[in-house]
Amino acid sequence: MSDTIVIFGASGDLTSRKLIPALYQLHRKGRLKKPVRIVGFSRSKFSHDEWRTSLAESTAEFAGEHFDAERWETFAQQIYYHPGDISQADDFSSLSRFLDEIEGSEPSGRVYYLSTAPRFYEQAIEQLGRAGLAEEGESFRRIIIEKPFGTDLASAKELNRCVHQVFSEHQVYRIDHYLGKETVQNLLVLRFGNSIFEPIWNRNYIDHVQITVAEAVDVGSRAGYYDTAGVVRDMVQNHLLQLLMVTAMESPVRYEADAIRNEKVKVLDAIQSLQLEDVGSDTFRGQYRGYTSSDGVEPTSHTATFAALKLGIDNWRWQGVPFYLRSGKAMSCRTTQIVIQFHAPPHKLFADSPRDLGEANRLVIQVQPAEGIQLHFQTKVPDAEMRMRQTDLSFNYQREFRGAMPEAYERLLLDALEGDASLFARADEVEAAWRICDPILQAWQQNDRPTLYMYDPGFWGPDECREWMLAQGREWFDNCPVLG
Ligand SMILES: NC(=O)c1ccc[n+]([C@@H]2O[C@H](COP(=O)([O-])OP(=O)(O)OC[C@H]3O[C@@H](n4cnc5c(N)ncnc54)[C@H](OP(=O)(O)O)[C@@H]3O)[C@@H](O)[C@H]2O)c1
Repeated sequence: MSDTIVIFGASGDLTSRKLIPALYQLHRKGRLKKPVRIVGFSRSKFSHDEWRTSLAESTAEFAGEHFDAERWETFAQQIYYHPGDISQADDFSSLSRFLDEIEGSEPSGRVYYLSTAPRFYEQAIEQLGRAGLAEEGESFRRIIIEKPFGTDLASAKELNRCVHQVFSEHQVYRIDHYLGKETVQNLLVLRFGNSIFEPIWNRNYIDHVQITVAEAVDVGSRAGYYDTAGVVRDMVQNHLLQLLMVTAMESPVRYEADAIRNEKVKVLDAIQSLQLEDVGSDTFRGQYRGYTSSDGVEPTSHTATFAALKLGIDNWRWQGVPFYLRSGKAMSCRTTQIVIQFHAPPHKLFADSPRDLGEANRLVIQVQPAEGIQLHFQTKVPDAEMRMRQTDLSFNYQREFRGAMPEAYERLLLDALEGDASLFARADEVEAAWRICDPILQAWQQNDRPTLYMYDPGFWGPDECREWMLAQGREWFDNCPVLG
């Protein structure tokens, strides 16, 4: 028995940088339970051997010290290339014949990976349907769809409708690679595999939650795409809301896909949609200076490269606890972190007791880089007088487990091959996420509120965002993780 992965967009960046290196690592580590064939599909003309050679070079670059030429040779024997154009029905018929030929008479499961620009998703799905490539007989047929899944609620619904005409929901794996990150999965373990955090993980102990996804890079060569998307579509609708769901969800009754996804969707359902008037006060947007000079960006572009949102979750656990989401390009450093900010102690026993939230207990979950967790707390400074200082207990993956963190795509590709959809988004989940983002996007487009503030690259976004937070009695935890 064996399986086949067909990658649409075989000559693209994601395939060479992430997908093939991840599959190679799974092969190298012996994690693939069955032999897996890889078939690349895109318009560029390669022979099997030319594609293998080009992938050997890119994998050697991205797998680094783990690349082993001998192992690669064994792995590469299962790599094939089939040139084709997504718009051509004949190319899908010939793909179908080619797959039958290399798979032989043995039934093989198939995973179709859409690693092309999103404008091709619907056409590729329709072609797969027409060519009979989605029909499950003895073996599974699954499809992995890359982000972005739609550009608003209407387009996401339309894409789901198109997907469901060809594939049943159990065959569909909508990817958000953040969910494949070790640190995000560890958040479930931290919360539900320990007994000390869950009792305090609520409104009684937590003042607010901050989730930051900061990028040091600017839009670079993606400027043309970025100008049509902006930070909410690029980061908030997917990665930030995924992190929010995992932070805020209730414990699922079982560790399985639907039980987990049911709890995640409940979180989104409990988020109050921002009304037009709230968008002015509860959202914040910015653009880094110099953005409009990028190639492919309109000189008058109002696209936000920075956003901060304040969301409320209307349920028993989180009533009155704001969740602040923040993301930006050209920021101080690259960091993704979740900050659980606890209340300050109610009674100031010591002259030096924490007076403001900045000095109160804080749990910082470093999603990337410098993956780890820190608990901040007050300690007495050794001295004859009573003075306090904030210190921390720190857990660091690198120190504890050594070795490189596995790439998110390794876990996600393995799960898709094994039929575990726990770390993939369900149809209702992506639609619920758009339901939260749509009013913000519409209001930003139609109104001059909130103001689009400018910021200098290399800082934590506009100064006014710090003031926005201070006006709410809170402070951003601006922290660049220490690497190494
Ligand atoms: N790159 C990343 O790190 C990353 C991260 C997260 C998500 N994604 C998502 O992953 C997807 C792929 O991204 P990418 O960066 O790899 O894009 P890319 O480098 O532009 O690659 C696009 C691929 O699509 C193929 N293609 C274009 N038109 C085609 C057609 N008519 N028929 C068949 N193939 C066609 C291209 O090959 P030919 O020109 O040879 O046909 C190329 O292989 C996008 O949806 C992106 O949003 C990418």
